Formats: sequence, structure tokens, C-alpha cells
Amino acid sequence: MRLERVAAHVPAGARLADIGSDHGYLPVALMRRGVIAAAVAGEVALTPFHAAERTVCESGQDLRISVRLANGLAAIEPGDGITAISICGMGGETIRDILDSGKARLTGQERLILQPNGGEQPLRQWLMENGYRILFEELLRENRFDYEIIVAERTGPVVYTVEQLYFGPLQMQARSPAFLAKWQRLLRHKQRTLTHFARARQALPEEKVQDIARQVRWISELLA
Ligand SMILES: C[S@@+](CC[C@H](N)C(=O)[O-])C[C@H]1O[C@@H](n2cnc3c(N)ncnc32)[C@H](O)[C@@H]1O
Repeated sequence: MRLERVAAHVPAGARLADIGSDHGYLPVALMRRGVIAAAVAGEVALTPFHAAERTVCESGQDLRISVRLANGLAAIEPGDGITAISICGMGGETIRDILDSGKARLTGQERLILQPNGGEQPLRQWLMENGYRILFEELLRENRFDYEIIVAERTGPVVYTVEQLYFGPLQMQARSPAFLAKWQRLLRHKQRTLTHFARARQALPEEKVQDIARQVRWISELLA
């Protein structure tokens, strides 16, 4: 379900780089469906790299999907003509670091399809600071986990407020039932954390307490 929703944001005819591809399911499924023209499956770790090689080989797509052992965007070569990059199933900070350290490999023409597991705020911050506008956002719940999908393209300067970076600018507008349910759950969780902090014997860093208190205020205002 999660990768299906990611797949839905890959444009027809794309030349896709799937970074951190693991088993390589996403590029293989998209190629089988005739959605993409070519793909690179990048993996930094040896075991998933071999798994991706196997999936691609068994699918008979090895002429159009290159599996590469590489760190982040180093999997992309100039001649690939990549038009879409997917980075999915990692923390938002990891995705941000992959984008930031691989900046030189980005032409700015690629659509980014990102599926962070947490850490969405720092990822959105990076997108804003690098001139990427968020075009679509999606939230889905599977196996009791909330997954976010963020689709962005480089358009030039864009400004988001701190609340938009925290909640997601488009999700804040759409206020889907899944979005409201997620933040109701998080509000209860953060309120409990604050209560535990208040009861804690040892002194906690004031900055940490203030940070959670600020989040509780933002979420309460959102849900009011
Ligand atoms: C949890 S899996 C997600 C696989 C797939 N993208 C998905 O969403 O189902 C994360 C994968 O990213 C790979 N990975 C982590 N950091 C990476 C990096 N800097 N460059 C390439 N791959 C990376 C890991 O080795 C792992 O196979």
C-alpha cells in the first residue's frame, strides 16, 4: 500500500532513480506496468544491493534498470537523464542528508518523491531552503504506522511558516480524516510526555520542555 501510493506519484515516462531501493520492488513494478522508461536502483548496503540485483534479473528488466552499489545520489550518473528520484522508507533526516550531500548530482529538473518515516519537519525545511515547492502530500496509515509522502519540484524561492513545516503545508489545508486522527494521537502522546516531565524528579533541560510545550500548543490550535 505504501509503495503503491509512492508509485502513483511517479510521472509516466519518467527515468527514475530509486535511492535506498532495498529489494528493488518499486522500479521493477513500475517498469512492468510500463510507467517508466528507465531506472537506477541505488543501494548503499551489500545485502539489499544483491536482493535488488536478483529482483531486477528475475524480472528480465536488467537492460532498462541499472542496480548500483552507491551512497545516496552517487548512484546517479550524468548520462542517466534522471527525471524523478524516489527516496523512501528512511527517516526524514536521512533523506535530507542524502539530498544535501548529493546536491551536485541534482539538475533541479527532477521530481522528488519522498516517503520519510518521521523527521518530516527537517526534510521540509531542506526543501524550502533549496527552492523546492511541495506539490503533493499524502498521509497513510498501515500496520499502525503513519507514513507521509512528500512530492516536490524545484521552482525557485518558496516560504513556509514554522507550522507549515511542522504539519505539512498542503495537509494543513486539506485536513483529511487521517491527518486529524494522526495529530489527535500525537497530541495525547505529547500531553502525556509533558505530564511525565512535570512529575520527574530530576531537572530536565528547559529547552526540551519548551519545545514539547510549543508543539502541544500548535497541535491544539490546529485541532481547535
Ligand atoms: C527500510 S529500507 C526501504 C526500502 C524501500 N525504499 C522501501 O521504501 O520499501 C531503506 C534502505 O535504504 C538503504 N539506504 C540507507 N541509506 C542509504 C544511502 N545513503 N544510500 C543508499 N541507500 C541507503 C538501506 O540500505 C535500506 O536498504
